[in-house]
Amino acid sequence: MQSLDFSCYRNIVILTGAGVSAASGIRPFRGQEGLWNEINPLKSADSSVLQTNPLAIWQLFGTLRTQLETAQPNAAHLTLAKFEAGFSSSQQFTLITQNIDGLHQRAGSRNVIELHGNVNYTRCSNPTCSLTAYLDKSPHKDLLPICQLCNYPLRLDIVLFGEQIPAKKEWLAKRSLRDCDLFIAIGTSGTVWPAANFVRSANYVGAKTIFINLEPMKPKNPYFQEEYLGRAEELLPLLFNIDVTPH
Ligand code: OAD
Repeated sequence: MQSLDFSCYRNIVILTGAGVSAASGIRPFRGQEGLWNEINPLKSADSSVLQTNPLAIWQLFGTLRTQLETAQPNAAHLTLAKFEAGFSSSQQFTLITQNIDGLHQRAGSRNVIELHGNVNYTRCSNPTCSLTAYLDKSPHKDLLPICQLCNYPLRLDIVLFGEQIPAKKEWLAKRSLRDCDLFIAIGTSGTVWPAANFVRSANYVGAKTIFINLEPMKPKNPYFQEEYLGRAEELLPLLFNIDVTPH
């Protein structure tokens, strides 16, 4: 496969989804291997579950915490980190991710907007509590953890279905899209808002738009101009012409 020439672009925005972490052993939500084929997200990843059965949320995402103790960034993460590192000061690069696993940062990516939060952090479910989100390795799958400041249940610092994206993150993401000239979405089913709509904004400002995924988007999104189908961990090093093999 021929590599793409990105040298003429000055403001690049990349959107990633769960497919980028598949080669690190983290299951995507949709598609053939998707978690939502087996688990009903309304019973474990919806904001209403915070009231009815908050431990179910810990049981689902606590497993991911445990997996992340050993999971490593793969060639897709490493390619994007190396790509960003190679940028000149006249170029801007923003990596917007829907992933909550923190693997982009572990690979070395710097300008990352974690739209849906980070599963490695815990915060209080009481919106008026002063506890700040903190790094927490415990999966809390057996016992609901309680805030020591206000006695409310603790929760993962992630965005559940039915919740808003934190305003600052959404603002930063939209600001980066305002004057981007290249937009690439990688490993995402393109079904979850607001990220699903970002390509439309990029197209509106005249950016080149590229979709890289294992399978075609269903239904096809007309705002993508180019599509490359395959595994992100295999395609990215080739398309970006970046060597990430360990030496
Ligand atoms: P999805 O699970 O919806 O989509 C992942 C896409 O990646 C699918 O189209 C897969 O076919 C594709 N895929 C799988 N393996 C791949 C690989 N090795 N290389 C390239 N593509 C691959 O993930 P997202 O679009 O990120 O939200 O999902 C968006 C949100 O929905 C998630 O952030 C999560 C979920 O519910 C929350 O948890 C709030």
